[in-house]
Amino acid sequence: MKLESFTRISLLFAIFLNAGHGFLLPSACRSSIVLKSASSDTDTDTLTIQQASQILQEWDQYYNKENTSGNSLPEEIMNKNRPILPAAIRLLNEAAREERDKDSTMGRCMLGICASSIDEGIATLKSWVTGLGLPRGILHGADKDGVQLDLDGGVYIKYNTGGFLTFSQIRSSGMGFDALWRPGDALLEPYDGNYRGVYFQVELDDGVFRQYLVPLDTFDEA
Ligand SMILES: *[C@@H]1O[C@H](CO)[C@@H](O)[C@H](O)[C@H]1NC(C)=O
Repeated sequence: MKLESFTRISLLFAIFLNAGHGFLLPSACRSSIVLKSASSDTDTDTLTIQQASQILQEWDQYYNKENTSGNSLPEEIMNKNRPILPAAIRLLNEAAREERDKDSTMGRCMLGICASSIDEGIATLKSWVTGLGLPRGILHGADKDGVQLDLDGGVYIKYNTGGFLTFSQIRSSGMGFDALWRPGDALLEPYDGNYRGVYFQVELDDGVFRQYLVPLDTFDEA
């Protein structure tokens, strides 16, 4: 049993790590994205940072709650905002990436994944990192000495393109000072809350606080 889960998790880690750094989004996904959604007022416009933020803000108002399921959201928000979420997130991510490319202390992108299981959490992390072309690092906290932790319930995975662990986080992860926080590293911990989704946060140089809770499967098709 131990061996089985070790093999399984090692394979996942290997997939997560192997793709390496430095793969780029197709050039179509640059800062100007033409909306394809048929049901939106903005469908023929070019999405701006302001519009993308607004779309995500509106969505977050309804979705950032405990025990949300897509069905409980107003139809208008499902029809208008849901289809544009990936484009809005990509746009903000691209703006952040441009800032990161100029100055590595700027343009941080952070994900906070609240999932029902370790498998769902890791699958979500992979689909987002792939979907957004984010740097891939190491997933900490999912195993001890190479053996997957026995986590039955929900998990929280924190991903950061450029940040660092605080000393207390390093201590609680048991990694000691080997644990340098590198771009694209993620930390997994048990989570018993009732939120489900991905907190997407970007830091742009306008200083506006941008953090939105969006569905786990936003980039599943990626
Ligand atoms: C969400 O579900 C949990 C567990 O069933 C429950 O304790 C909590 O009160 C619920 N929260 C809301 C806002 O309904």
